[in-house]
Amino acid sequence: MSSKNILITGGAGFIGSHVVRLFVKKYPEYRIINLDSLTYAGNLENLRDIENAPNYEFVRASILDMDALRQVFQQYSINGVIHLAAESHVDRSIHNPDEFAMTNIIGTIRLLKVAQTAWHGNMEDKMFYHISTDEVYGSIEDGYFTEETPIDPRSPYSASKASSDHFVVAFNNSYGLPSMVSRCSNNYGPYQFPEKLIPLMINNMVNKKPLPVYGKGENIRDWLYVEDHARAIDTIFHKGKSGEVYNIGGNNEWKNIDLVKMLCRIVDEKLNREPGTSASLITYVTDRPGHDLRYAIDASKVISETGWRPTTDFAEGLEKTVEWYLQNQQWLSHVTSGEYLKYYEKMYANR
Ligand code: NAD
Ligand code: DAU
Repeated sequence: MSSKNILITGGAGFIGSHVVRLFVKKYPEYRIINLDSLTYAGNLENLRDIENAPNYEFVRASILDMDALRQVFQQYSINGVIHLAAESHVDRSIHNPDEFAMTNIIGTIRLLKVAQTAWHGNMEDKMFYHISTDEVYGSIEDGYFTEETPIDPRSPYSASKASSDHFVVAFNNSYGLPSMVSRCSNNYGPYQFPEKLIPLMINNMVNKKPLPVYGKGENIRDWLYVEDHARAIDTIFHKGKSGEVYNIGGNNEWKNIDLVKMLCRIVDEKLNREPGTSASLITYVTDRPGHDLRYAIDASKVISETGWRPTTDFAEGLEKTVEWYLQNQQWLSHVTSGEYLKYYEKMYANR
């Protein structure tokens, strides 16, 4: 595929910012347009190092705003979409499911409609690539999710993502829109909003606050370093086939409690604290309602068909992540206080 003008939605978020950075640096001949509405989870400080690159543009707009989307498709002659914009946190979805339906389902449908209309009659060399999650498969006690595993979402977040996956397939089937879907396991690394397990725990350890482990801490997740996911997205975007689904995972399963204890040891060591200091903060709290027990991805399809594989060792990745959060306390205070919007005003107000 010779796509040159690529729209990346949600590029100011955690995974999106790593994808934008990778594409801007690796493909100077491409034009990368990052469209993000800058919710609480989107922060342009994540992209400080590439914000002035000649092949990078930022547009502040919502995927719900079809006029803005049409304008972007027209102005930049978009011929590839990598769609990450979403509400992404399971706990929030339990309190506010309609917001998740609005952004993740209706927002995706509107983006699909605009792409389909803009590309109508000339689908050659076009691609709509939708970034999804292993959570659409539900929970699995034994074995692994393959691309053939039936969809069985169990939280409002995963229900909204599963629905958006179906709409992507429906646009492919009904209108011939070239599209792909990938479903990834839990990501970790720099720039993740501190409501998710790993950054939340690191932040609480630093501030000697309780470490809230849901239920008995026995739930299992398969963790992948975010840069490995960004590389997978790059590989699938360039080598994947329209109409296909690709699972992405780290083959790296951890019980939450074991992961939290490992983080405690790393943080104590880095802060020169007595061993056991952080672990003494572990507090078992009421479980997440409907908490999925285990996610486990079989990523053999993407590995055999594209050659991608995870390369970051977990201990090394966690250590880099802890180090990053310790050195970026100002970023943390900006994202948790609303200060991150001032950066947008400073950088983009006069453009
Ligand atoms: P995130 O919450 O960190 O970032 C989401 C981004 O989307 C933010 O920048 C936000 O401002 C933007 N956004 C939200 N609503 C928008 C709207 N209406 N219009 C435009 N932009 C909007 O999320 P993340 O963890 O980086 O996840 C990115 C994508 O990857 C999501 O689609 C998520 O479902 C998927 N995913 C995440 C993980 C994970 O472990 N974090 C794993 C698999 C798949
Ligand atoms: O599997 C991919 C998914 O991973 C993505 O699609 C989601 O966007 C992403 O948020 C993530 O979902 P999880 O619910 O697995 O991630 P979270 O970090 O919220 O929780 C990880 C595990 O840790 C989960 O079993 C719940 C538990 N947990 C979480 C928090 C925030 C705790 O025990 N305590 C906590 O405070």
